[in-house]
Amino acid sequence: MTAKTRRDFLQQAALGTAAFLAYPPAKVLGANDRVRVGMIGVGNRGQDLLQEVVAVRGVQLVGIADIYSRQRDEAKKLAPGIETFDDHRRLLDRKDIDAVIVASPLHTHARHFLDTLSAGKDLYAEKTMTWSIPEAEQCLAAAKDSGRVVQIGLQFQSSGALADARRWIRDGIVGKVTQVESWMSRNTPHGQGQWVRPVPRDCTPQNVNWSAFLNGRPDRPFDAYRLINWRLFWEFSGGNVTENLVHQIAWTMTALDLPLPAAATMSGGVFSEKDGREVPDTIAVTFDFPDDLVVTWQSTFSNRHYGLGERILGSDGTIEHGWLESDMVNGEEGEFIRYSPEKINRPHAAALTGKTKDQDHMSNWMECIRTRKAPNAPVEIGYRSAMAVHMANLAYRRRQRITLEEAKAIAPQF
Ligand SMILES: NC(=O)c1ccc[n+]([C@@H]2O[C@H](COP(=O)([O-])OP(=O)(O)OC[C@H]3O[C@@H](n4cnc5c(N)ncnc54)[C@H](O)[C@@H]3O)[C@@H](O)[C@H]2O)c1
Repeated sequence: MTAKTRRDFLQQAALGTAAFLAYPPAKVLGANDRVRVGMIGVGNRGQDLLQEVVAVRGVQLVGIADIYSRQRDEAKKLAPGIETFDDHRRLLDRKDIDAVIVASPLHTHARHFLDTLSAGKDLYAEKTMTWSIPEAEQCLAAAKDSGRVVQIGLQFQSSGALADARRWIRDGIVGKVTQVESWMSRNTPHGQGQWVRPVPRDCTPQNVNWSAFLNGRPDRPFDAYRLINWRLFWEFSGGNVTENLVHQIAWTMTALDLPLPAAATMSGGVFSEKDGREVPDTIAVTFDFPDDLVVTWQSTFSNRHYGLGERILGSDGTIEHGWLESDMVNGEEGEFIRYSPEKINRPHAAALTGKTKDQDHMSNWMECIRTRKAPNAPVEIGYRSAMAVHMANLAYRRRQRITLEEAKAIAPQF
């Protein structure tokens, strides 16, 4: 028995019935105990998550950390009485916090992920799990070693549509899947680039902990535009593949139980609005997966006609899943999932429509904190989806096909 398995064994033996649980509790929560939560990064997404978490029964939001005073003030308006910090380490010092939600910019994810686990707290970590491949490896290992409940903010892992797709695939009615097509499209008024946010007047060096934002990136004078619009620059972001492909590749990987891609290619560029951004707005990605499968994803910021979706193409049937801005054929809007048999191989089979209800992703995390079971988006899918999107970005930035082995050997570049 290794030192770690021996430690786990002794810990589990001491916990009695908890020996059968996926994750041992840091402290045993009674049915009436509140789960005490902290948050790191309470901007756009963080404020949505704040409202989601305080709506879950039995939760108390204790404090938040954000480097910008405006966001701390906004959070206090949404949750009066919370404590606020401009340094996440002060929040993590608090022994009375059980669990932490991280919704900071991508280039700070790994630090917040690792520090939260080191502080012995359960974790909800926004996607993409990390900014780079070495960070993804490090976070996966730390999460496995920690025994903490880690939910990644890939909320479509809790969707009813994914449960429907998995069931149809498991039942064998899709047959051999050799190709998945996926896409994601948006548009903006002329002259206004996707994601560009105005800089608030109070975004000044006095109100921002700038060195904490830089998080080890080369030092430079305060730059409010980059702080607010971090998504547009490689140093802080991975562009639309880390913003949106990550959700869809995680969905496809879970539907089909896929391992890591064997290789990726990605073409595209800054075509829609040449507004100084570095990350491409027009993208075509191809992933080669082991065992005879190609997955493609295309994305534009200049046309939203086809919304977003995936088509799983099998020898015995097709699964179509999407969120439509508008469906030309039926005039439908919103999310749908349906199955159509390939008549050549299933001549008498009927078409199906998925009806499974979504689970609430935040409530699923809270439930797992109490039961110590594995959540719907565990660290493994956070890792696999992060690896895939980073392979795509490496292929784009090097203008070449990148294999998994090559991607693992490339040092990350700002
Ligand atoms: N799951 C989803 O559907 C979804 C949707 C949108 C965004 N996101 C993810 O949420 C994250 C945040 O995105 P956003 O749009 O809210 O960005 P944002 O810029 O609006 O918010 C980030 C917040 O983090 C703060 N911050 C920056 N550095 C920090 C540090 N070192 N310590 C503490 N706070 C720090 C900023 O002041 C800001 O308030 C991103 O990773 C993004 O991909 C997920």
